[in-house]
Amino acid sequence: MKVAVLGAAGGIGQALSLLLKNQLPAGSELRLYDIAPVTPGVAVDLSHIPTDVAICGFGGEDPTPALQDADLVMISAGLARKPGMDRSDLFKFNAGIIQNLIEKCVQACPKACIGIITNPVNTLVPIAAQVLKKAGVYDKRKLFGVTTLDVIRSNTFVAQAKNRSVSGLDVTVIGGHSGVTILPLLSQIPGVEFSPQEIDSLTKRIQNAGTEVVEAKAGGGSATLSMGQAACRFALSVVRGLQGESDVIECAYVEGDGQHAPFFAQPVKLGKEGAEAVLDFGSLSQYEQQALQGMLDTLQADIQKGLDF
Ligand SMILES: NC(=O)c1ccc[n+]([C@@H]2O[C@H](COP(=O)([O-])OP(=O)(O)OC[C@H]3O[C@@H](n4cnc5c(N)ncnc54)[C@H](O)[C@@H]3O)[C@@H](O)[C@H]2O)c1
Repeated sequence: MKVAVLGAAGGIGQALSLLLKNQLPAGSELRLYDIAPVTPGVAVDLSHIPTDVAICGFGGEDPTPALQDADLVMISAGLARKPGMDRSDLFKFNAGIIQNLIEKCVQACPKACIGIITNPVNTLVPIAAQVLKKAGVYDKRKLFGVTTLDVIRSNTFVAQAKNRSVSGLDVTVIGGHSGVTILPLLSQIPGVEFSPQEIDSLTKRIQNAGTEVVEAKAGGGSATLSMGQAACRFALSVVRGLQGESDVIECAYVEGDGQHAPFFAQPVKLGKEGAEAVLDFGSLSQYEQQALQGMLDTLQADIQKGLDF
């Protein structure tokens, strides 16, 4: 597998690259790219870790050497939040970055699966789709907004709230990746019951968990280490699917059946061509149904902003 990380010198990029260097299947190639001049050095540093994953790093203006014939491209390039900022405040900085990087993917790896970590995910994924469509290489099975952090946060917070092990927990999170558009389906966790108050406070904590980190880091950035872990989990799942493993399922923000919105986070089955099927997420509690209805205007507006760009 040839895996490229764009934004690899950043907080998420370095954590993700470290995890991938250790966990990609033997024989894989990991390519790092970032405009930061330190990037080849990050690759040299990681190259001293004894795994059977080859690694190289590129700085400068052109990501092409990292992208050539890649199977999977993970993108965390761009600006992160500071206290007081909403994810949508990042749009004016990050939209152009994503557009440029996707244009390079069109040239160098038009068939690659692409995972977008950069925020605002709700809006940048539609932008990426438009760029790929314009170039005639769009395959909706291969473009993902990475929402795995919402899943792993949900798992952690549910385990804490119920004083139980996280092992075996995997909460389905649907919608999008910001504020009210993040909807964890807490009613569906086998063997776990919540009071209405617990549901409401846990849901809000999961929706605001990114801000919890931004405030705790006090100007030093947003989630990087937990996001690196989440992105690594997602990337390894895509790789397992591409390699033909069956029953690989992750929640991700994809162009699905359009029932709720043109782009929507929900469980997808990963296979040799990317998201081979968008899976039904089952029945919702009354609280979840209301939350779903309540998020749709926000999500539609986020998507429209991307399409208008
Ligand atoms: N999807 C999620 O759940 C999630 C979670 C946390 C953060 N994020 C987002 O991920 C992004 C990165 O966060 P971070 O903490 O790693 O930020 P960071 O500032 O530490 O790193 C960003 C990196 O991008 C690089 N970069 C900027 N423009 C580039 C370009 N044109 N090409 C290549 N590299 C470029 C920078 O040099 C920097 O190294 C932010 O937009 C953040 O909001 C997403």
